[in-house]
Amino acid sequence: MANLAVLASGNGSNFQSIAERFATQYRHRLSCLIYDRRNAFAAVRAEKLGVPSHYVSYFKRPREEAEEEIGLYLARYEIDLIALAGYMRLFTPGFVGKQQGRILNIHPSLLPKYPGTRGIEESYCSPDRELGITIHYVDAGIDTGSIIVQPSFHRNGTESLDEISERIHALEHDTYPDVILKLLNQL
Ligand code: GRF
Repeated sequence: MANLAVLASGNGSNFQSIAERFATQYRHRLSCLIYDRRNAFAAVRAEKLGVPSHYVSYFKRPREEAEEEIGLYLARYEIDLIALAGYMRLFTPGFVGKQQGRILNIHPSLLPKYPGTRGIEESYCSPDRELGITIHYVDAGIDTGSIIVQPSFHRNGTESLDEISERIHALEHDTYPDVILKLLNQL
């Protein structure tokens, strides 16, 4: 049995797909959600799904202090793996070093193309025919950690931005929970 924490800042659809997938198995536990924006919809989802959730503020305090608080939750739940799911913060090299390859992230483009917050729009506006997502380990950079998987699909060019966004999110929801479970199985 290994313990997972999900960190999210916003909508939390990936958090929900992870929670629903974890509910179909007994081997590992989704122990908690940690969120850094008071109005994160992910927290509403957590409540409905019966997953403990904790707010950690970054407001007017050094990043290190917020990370220390996160560290207390990680210790309390004996967390083995951290999955970022739309978490809009960069960690300090100190925190990343301490977690040593135990933090994952999901990004809605085929990295190293289109890092940052506009991955879907930039992919959509590019001439690329092959689009997709990346699940990678987290380092102290922006979407730069080593890549674990990159499932993709081909577009024909007639799709709208909404259609492409939907397809990317569906691919995320299909892929992330299983990758997480597979990594937990290997611990
Ligand atoms: C996802 O597209 C993910 O790839 C990116 O942020 C988005 C989060 O969506 N890192 P949600 O909050 O899980 O709905």
